[in-house]
Amino acid sequence: VILLFPLLLLFTPSLSLSLPTSKSSVFVPSTPIPGMKPGTSGLRKKTKQWMSKNYLSNFIQSLLDTANKSSPPHEILVAGDGRYYNTLAIQEIIKLCVGNKIPHILIPRTGIMSTPAVSSLIRSLPNCCGGIVLTASHNPGGIEEDFGIKYNEGRGQPADESFTDEVYERTKVIQGFWREEGEDIDLNAEAGTKTVLGSTTVTIIDPFETYISTLRTSFDFPLLSSFISDPRVSILFDGMHGAGGPFASKILGDILGVEGLMRCESKEDFGGIHPDPNLSYASDLVERMGLLPDGTANPDFTSEFTLGAANDGDGDRNMICGKGIFVTPSDSLAIIADRCECIPQFKGGLKGVARSMPSSGAVDVVAERKGVECFVTPTGWKFFGNLMDSKEAFGKKSYSPFLCGEESFGTGSDHIREKDGLWAVLSWISILADANKGNEEGSLVQVKDIVEEHWKKYGRHFYCRYDYEGCDSGAADTLMDGLRELVGGGGKAAADVGGGGEIVFESVEEFEYTDPVDGSFSGKQGMVLNFKMKSTGDKARAVFRLSGTGSSGATVRLYLEQYDGKNFQGSAPEKLKLLGEEAIRISKLQELTGREQPTVIT
Ligand code: G6P
Ligand code: ZN
Repeated sequence: VILLFPLLLLFTPSLSLSLPTSKSSVFVPSTPIPGMKPGTSGLRKKTKQWMSKNYLSNFIQSLLDTANKSSPPHEILVAGDGRYYNTLAIQEIIKLCVGNKIPHILIPRTGIMSTPAVSSLIRSLPNCCGGIVLTASHNPGGIEEDFGIKYNEGRGQPADESFTDEVYERTKVIQGFWREEGEDIDLNAEAGTKTVLGSTTVTIIDPFETYISTLRTSFDFPLLSSFISDPRVSILFDGMHGAGGPFASKILGDILGVEGLMRCESKEDFGGIHPDPNLSYASDLVERMGLLPDGTANPDFTSEFTLGAANDGDGDRNMICGKGIFVTPSDSLAIIADRCECIPQFKGGLKGVARSMPSSGAVDVVAERKGVECFVTPTGWKFFGNLMDSKEAFGKKSYSPFLCGEESFGTGSDHIREKDGLWAVLSWISILADANKGNEEGSLVQVKDIVEEHWKKYGRHFYCRYDYEGCDSGAADTLMDGLRELVGGGGKAAADVGGGGEIVFESVEEFEYTDPVDGSFSGKQGMVLNFKMKSTGDKARAVFRLSGTGSSGATVRLYLEQYDGKNFQGSAPEKLKLLGEEAIRISKLQELTGREQPTVIT
């Protein structure tokens, strides 16, 4: 033992950190478990894997060790999206935090909080160093489905790559974890209930309060509720049985008077559905909004609803539809940017916008016309955080108020450091209320009118995404490598004409990003194929990217975008069909993956 001890110190950095000393806190030996590399948004695995021996404990200890390196965790929030294993995992994490002598743990009543509410709460607590968030977002839940954990830092934003890389390194050398056996906490106790376990105090807190007051500062609640009470207005919201549901019931329902709330009670398996708000998975809502599954208007059915919206499993994603119109997330961002002055948060003028690279360039055009700086970042909300905090954290120019979004149904601003499903819905209600200001008796200005007016003003970025889920990882890598080989072959590529002579393939580039605020570099962020339409000269592009959020195999995403400055009518999937065929031909997707059709088109 004497001989082994210095060796142990060498291989287990945690032993050199401030360690628990209490007798009742025991060090449980364990061995590294491979594959614990967090993706775009934390570590997502099959629930059963999380429930297997030492899996959760190894990961949490690695996470706490990593957090401990910068400053010993003092106060930590632990909350989840309510999926299967949420409660058990919270109870176990409490025991690990107690074992690690963390002085204060905060747990929302019921253990359930939406991701945006978590972010807003962490930001509001001066001593809170971060939050352990139990979510696999929009992935299905249940014992056979997915579970996930991510860490949000003290400013309320998802931990950056250097942090998650360090957690991963730690999982590879971990020798055990600190744990203290103790009674389970009553997660349904009244807010304010405190339990002392060892040297830790566990406090049950109200999940709603802080988030509601954050939204009150962003929006004009009295104006919104008066618009909603107009008998011509009706709103349909789909909570998809996720964590956003109870928040929607309180905010949209109780406070603002929205009556059309569906699937708003949270369920461990999300009612057996895939809790992802898109045209495929929110099919009920899509149908009730008078839409066909491809997002075009159903000629045989007119919806009674003015606005239809859905959130995902943890309440940070959103989908927006109007009567007979689906608003793509990229268009939604551009329209909010264009009309943001009607939202109190932006009264003083928008200072910066950002979008992820695969999102369409619709917002770029608005930013340009407004003279507002526009950033194009890699996929992942965390890249927006630095821009939002540029002033406070880095002493540079402030871009606040800041607006940002992603094609993956994420929209938000610097009111918090996560995307925010309900915030997007409230933005759209604000836009509708503003467009109908003074319109007391006539027919309502509808979402469709707003979107078409936007296209008339700025042109339309036709947009569509093909997802190929569960592909062989090797084949997916070969596909990306093949595209990489085309980079720089401009001359040869430029001669390549497809789509019946209409689509001219111009070049391929790989997207990389150097953060303008802290200089950090992110490589390999997607392959961009650039095209030009022969007859109009309008630009088009196809982007290939591998998903970073899957729990098994590889998902290839193909993002298609074609700008049309004049003709904005028609369905996006139709318009982009030829471009899609071209991208598939050039990438050899079919040969490599064996896939004839995408799993999902959104
Ligand atoms: C999560 C992140 C988003 C990101 C998305 C990408 O939802 O929070 O910021 O856009 O993942 O997912 P993907 O599967 O395409 O990597
Ligand atoms: Zn989510």
